[in-house]
Amino acid sequence: MEQTAKDVHTKEELFPTYKRWDITFDKAEGVTITDKNGKRYTDFMAGIGVNNLGHAHPAVVKAVEKQLYKGWHASNFFQYDEQKETARLLTSHSCGDLVFFANSGAEANEAAIKLARKHTGRPKIISFVQSFHGRTFGSMAATGQTGIHEGFGPMLEGFEYHPYNDVNELEKAVDNDTAAVILEVVQGEGGVRPADHEFLRAAEQAAKQTGALLICDEIQTGIGRTGKFFAYEHSGIHPDIITAAKALGNGFPLGAMIGREFLRESFGPGSHGTTFGGNPLAMAAAKSTLETLLHEGWVEAAAFKGERFLNELNQELTSLSIVKEVRGMGMMAGVELTEPAADKMKKLRDKGMLVIAAGPNVIRMLPPLTMDEETLSGGVQKLKEVLLS
Ligand SMILES: Cc1ncc(COP(=O)(O)O)c(C=O)c1O
Repeated sequence: MEQTAKDVHTKEELFPTYKRWDITFDKAEGVTITDKNGKRYTDFMAGIGVNNLGHAHPAVVKAVEKQLYKGWHASNFFQYDEQKETARLLTSHSCGDLVFFANSGAEANEAAIKLARKHTGRPKIISFVQSFHGRTFGSMAATGQTGIHEGFGPMLEGFEYHPYNDVNELEKAVDNDTAAVILEVVQGEGGVRPADHEFLRAAEQAAKQTGALLICDEIQTGIGRTGKFFAYEHSGIHPDIITAAKALGNGFPLGAMIGREFLRESFGPGSHGTTFGGNPLAMAAAKSTLETLLHEGWVEAAAFKGERFLNELNQELTSLSIVKEVRGMGMMAGVELTEPAADKMKKLRDKGMLVIAAGPNVIRMLPPLTMDEETLSGGVQKLKEVLLS
């Protein structure tokens, strides 16, 4: 038979949206990822802030396995006990009262932006420079990075980007046309930049005074990452909407938008929806993840270990000439270099340590919250070695 172009596999049949590393995943357990050649890597990135309980946590595996045989999907026309129970876990550990389950972080933010516009009847969404909220049209429009908008115009109308941590500019920006202020408590993709408490309180105040909603995008910072269940708790603010995803299913894909009771009627039947959001497999993963995280004390552990980890990073690295700044909160750390981070990250991978970038110059670490202190310290030493080389 004649060979067609389709039979000649000279190129990989994946869109090249990611500059992939030269590592083929084989399996993962705890804080270790093993590749196809049997090389083992200590995971300081947790699948970009996802596997907070470590890989293949037995409680989550067991819960998903059990659900596998009970049913995968029936649709949101059915009542699912698992949805109600997972929603209860989220609302009893946040200032929110109602949950909409989605399939990803971007979708959770879409829901939040739609709800804010529908509830207020206003067009304007205030966001911040260097923020990241996702890749769908709404969440991309909310993202304050021109590089992410490039080639996809026109952007949705009504989105504005203001300087992060600038209270004056924020107060000028929020007005009676504003539907919502959307922010990350620590900008993750934008370089691991924590917000000042004063800035967060000013955002809450400005929203309250004008009737706008405050949306905290906790997709990267939530589910214990910063040493609180949600990072906004560090500042004592009470957002109207919280979005979560990433670590919510410890690797099982799902997202959630958590809103206050007064928003209930604005998301009535027919207003918003999703085929897969909240499906029983995702709920089994999320419920067991949250129960394990809360019952085993991993949030408190993240606060304790995170403080020591950040102190050690500061002590060991700030004096190096290649290091501009060490930043972070809890188990979320960024080391800004005076040069692009890619070479150093490659060297770390060669030495069996996985980290990710946050912008060109920042090495970001988001280890599983279950990583022990000795392994965390080992990582600091390995990073120091590589930065000195
Ligand atoms: C703060 C924040 N918001 C939203 C998203 C988008 O989430 P997803 O990739 O699940 O759509 C991310 C992902 O990195 C994020 O860090």
